[in-house]
Amino acid sequence: MDLCMFDSLESTNKYCELLDMNEVKEFTVICAREQTAGIGQRGNCWHAEAGSNLTFSMVLKPEFLPVENQYMLTKAVSLGLVDGIGPYLPNTTVRIKWPNDIYVGNKKICGILISNKVKGTNLSVSIVGIGLNVNQTVFPDWVPNPVSIKQVSGRDESLEVVLKRVVDAVELRYIQLRDGWFSGVEEMDKEYLSRLLFLGREMPYKYHEKEIKATIVGVNRFGHLELVTDSGDTITCQLKELKFLGV
Ligand code: BTN
Repeated sequence: MDLCMFDSLESTNKYCELLDMNEVKEFTVICAREQTAGIGQRGNCWHAEAGSNLTFSMVLKPEFLPVENQYMLTKAVSLGLVDGIGPYLPNTTVRIKWPNDIYVGNKKICGILISNKVKGTNLSVSIVGIGLNVNQTVFPDWVPNPVSIKQVSGRDESLEVVLKRVVDAVELRYIQLRDGWFSGVEEMDKEYLSRLLFLGREMPYKYHEKEIKATIVGVNRFGHLELVTDSGDTITCQLKELKFLGV
């Protein structure tokens, strides 16, 4: 693993954004023991107790991937994290809360923040930021739904070992995507779908400010979630349009 380890950075994603990507090898990992201004999805901040968790970014160069298929990268990375975290929690099922939060039960164990650069019609560089709760056992009240590996398994883990396992697993899924791209990646589509939290279960959601009951039935090729409401209507929605009320 090409690993650059820092004691403290504002944000590993932000650090990567400043690098000249011609000089950075694919699969380079930038990891920080502490982030002073970690970035989460939708402009939120990412909380992680220094030295207890993993906060890192991987540099990928998915030049094979057309921009309109960028959601496939989200699927590959999410599945890689499920593969990497799963062995630490043998008695639980690790799931993906659409689009790319990693959940154990009704709690979030890992967040992913991907930022893509485009060249022509395809992606050129992806910075894949990953925040994985490992040994932290107390979280501030404002963090929504957190859980760590230790809280579930009762065991302290070596951050170095978990990092290697998780990075290897994400790399494997990415290579599966890259090498299968021209022959078909239906298998990965299916696996992603089967791992979705609340798939096939009627649950409450807020959709355009209205509370509804609906069942997740699929994800389309743009990564939009497909649900059937309790009155039988099919809705297709993007992240901003839907809030999960069941977690
Ligand atoms: C989310 O909100 O679920 C996404 C969280 C992503 C956090 C990681 S920690 C490493 C990388 N650097 C950041 O500033 N954010 C991501």
